[in-house]
Amino acid sequence: MTDGGVVTLEVRGRTALVTINRPEKRNALDAQVRGAFLEAIASARANDVVRAIVVTGAGDKAFVAGADIGEFEGRTTVEQWRVMKGPTLFDAVERCPKAVIAAVNGYCLGGGMELALACDFRVASTTARFGQPEVNLGIIPGGGGTQRLPRIVGLGAALKLVLTGDMIDAAEALRLGLVEEVVEPGALLDRALALAEMIATRSPVAVAAAKEATRAALSLPLDDGLKLETALFQVCFASADRAEGVRAFLEKRSAHFTGT
Ligand code: COA
Repeated sequence: MTDGGVVTLEVRGRTALVTINRPEKRNALDAQVRGAFLEAIASARANDVVRAIVVTGAGDKAFVAGADIGEFEGRTTVEQWRVMKGPTLFDAVERCPKAVIAAVNGYCLGGGMELALACDFRVASTTARFGQPEVNLGIIPGGGGTQRLPRIVGLGAALKLVLTGDMIDAAEALRLGLVEEVVEPGALLDRALALAEMIATRSPVAVAAAKEATRAALSLPLDDGLKLETALFQVCFASADRAEGVRAFLEKRSAHFTGT
């Protein structure tokens, strides 16, 4: 476990808990947080013990209240372009072969919302608030919000959020399919960690392949997506995990997957 930094990483069982830890600034993403977050995800990705990741924000007020607005002052267009070219937090979680779950515990705005959107799915507390408020600042979402949000909630709901800059509550986010579950604040972390541990018991080969194939559904034509699914199915079929999974079922016992 890393303590006291702007991002903490704690391994609990087979799950890495990554906490953005800047509560006095509502966990806004500045350069330091971005760098530390990328390191935490890289470390969790490289750690063979870790099979799933939960991302959350410290404190009870915010998941992440967006990019650090103070950094926009005095930044040149070229500097901003470099930040956006990445490596970005959004790509890091989306491309991670392990499942990444967002545990949304409060304000989830701008880049924070985009981080949650890049995660594989989202569990929210009843106190969570979601929004893409960039139009209030004379900009637009720049962390994938205009692209991932309509793919998740549909065009009209995405445009309503992006054009108004207005916030919605957790119940509305659930209704839109922006989050998959809403729980009481005190239950949020336990629920997200329990879902992560459930995934951690599955075959890591199959989880990685399932994530890649399912995500490809949003960008590939159906025929290409089906071909990718078949190719990834074959990868799984050749794995030791497949042999173990099938044997364990036939022997009526739990499977012990090794990710090979
Ligand atoms: N960037 C930089 N600082 C931020 C921030 C952000 N995105 N969000 C919050 N903060 C800072 C505030 O400036 C304040 O700092 P201070 O104590 O030094 O004055 C501190 O966090 C607490 O914020 P405050 O507004 O007092 O808390 P609140 O609970 O009343 O409101 C929010 C929380 C998130 C609704 C409000 O801070 C807000 O609207 N933030 C901006 C959200 C946004 O536009 N994000 C998109 C950026 S592209």
